[in-house]
Amino acid sequence: MTATRGYDSVDLDTFSEDSRYKFLTGSVVPRPIALVTTLSETGVLNAAPFSQFVIISVTPPLLGIVAHDATERQVFAAAPGAYKDTVRNILANEEFVINSVSESMALQVQECAHPFPPDVSEVDTVGFHTLPSDLVKPSRIAESQIQFECRLHRTVPFGDGHSKTTLVVGEVVRVHCAEGVLEGHRVIHDALRPLGRIAGRNYCRTADIVSV
Ligand SMILES: Cc1cc2nc3c(=O)[nH]c(=O)nc-3n(C[C@H](O)[C@H](O)[C@H](O)COP(=O)(O)O)c2cc1C
Repeated sequence: MTATRGYDSVDLDTFSEDSRYKFLTGSVVPRPIALVTTLSETGVLNAAPFSQFVIISVTPPLLGIVAHDATERQVFAAAPGAYKDTVRNILANEEFVINSVSESMALQVQECAHPFPPDVSEVDTVGFHTLPSDLVKPSRIAESQIQFECRLHRTVPFGDGHSKTTLVVGEVVRVHCAEGVLEGHRVIHDALRPLGRIAGRNYCRTADIVSV
C-alpha cells in the first residue's frame, strides 16, 4: 500500500553547523544520559553529561559516548577545537565511570555541563557525593543508581577541521547497582527513574510506559 502524505525534505548541507546540531539532536530523542566521571592529571574529579550515549557491544560489554570538540566558549586550557576535559582525561589515563542519571539529578547534571576550568571539580561544585570505584581511579557518583566502571577500549575520531568529534568506547569492567534497582539480571525502572534528554534544558521521564 502506498501512503500519501506530505514531507518537508531537509538538506543538512544548507544548515549552519549550529542548526544541524540542533536538528539532529532534536530528532534523535529522547536520549539517555551518561554522567561521565574522569580524573585530571592533577587529581581533579571531573563530571560531564553526554547524551550521545550508546551500547556498542554486549560481548565484550562496550559503552560509547560521543564528545564534540570544545568550542571557544567551552575552552579554558587550550585553543578552541581542543578536546573537552572528559576526553583529555580519558586519553591520559584510560579510565572513566559512566554514572546513570535519574530524574532527581536533572538540575545538577545540567549544571555539570557548565564550562568550568579543568582545575574546578563539577562534582563538588554541584554538590554530588562520591564513592570509590573498585577497579578504576575515578570515583563514582553516589546519587547515581547504576555506575559502570570503564577502561578505554578505543577512540574513533570523526569530522574535519571545523567540527571534530570523538567516539570514546569503554569496556565495562565492573558495575554497581543501588539497592532495589536489580532483581536477578533485570533492572527495575521504577527504582532507576531514568532521565532522558530532549533538547536544550528539556528532559523527560519514563513514567508513562507504552506496553505492546
Ligand atoms: C544533558 C546533557 C547532555 C550532553 N551531551 C553531550 C554529548 O553527547 N556530547 C558532547 O560533546 N557534549 C554534550 N553535552 C555538553 C557537555 O556536557 C559540556 O560541553 C561539558 O562542559 C563538557 O565537560 P568537560 O569539558 O568537563 O568534559 C551535554 C550537556 C548536557 C547538559
